[in-house]
Amino acid sequence: HERSFIMVKPDGVQRGLVGEIIKRFEQRGFKLVAMKMVTPQRALLEQHYEEHKGKKFFDPLLSYIGSGPVVAMVWEGLNVVSVGRKMLGATDPAKSEPGTIRGDYAIVTGRNIAHGSDSDKSAKREIDLWFRADELANWTNFSSKRRRVSLPFPSPP
Ligand code: GTP
Ligand code: MG
Repeated sequence: HERSFIMVKPDGVQRGLVGEIIKRFEQRGFKLVAMKMVTPQRALLEQHYEEHKGKKFFDPLLSYIGSGPVVAMVWEGLNVVSVGRKMLGATDPAKSEPGTIRGDYAIVTGRNIAHGSDSDKSAKREIDLWFRADELANWTNFSSKRRRVSLPFPSPP
């Protein structure tokens, strides 16, 4: 079961897009395993965005993400890292396809609404950074299982 760290950034929270983003991941078929609202401390963000340390947008980025509460989540499911990135759209919303989260709701890179892990390795690192092990729920989605067995055709490979 692959997992990804997905975060609604402060602008997404301010604009009332938390529900919309959760809805898209739920309806795609992913399983929510952790979620919390927090205003991240600078030390956490320095680690979260350590790959960007030294770049010119690093300080503005940390001010932006630290400016208010974010909604940090862990989503689980087949290929959730790459599919999650597709659902978010390109980093620069000017290049994001319509139909993606950024392509539907954002116009500039510096206010691009949501974050998604860029690899399985990043996902593991970010989940460890943002959540304690006991904050991850262990649950079975019985409604999706029941629906799957009642379909009149075989399950996909
Ligand atoms: P995240 O999911 O937030 O990690 O975005 P990403 O993986 O699509 O992009 P990346 O990791 O390269 O950059 C992280 C974040 O820094 C972006 O989402 C933007 O919010 C911001 N950022 C990246 N490049 C620039 C830039 O050139 N200018 C500004 N102002 N912000 C940038
Ligand atoms: Mg990134």
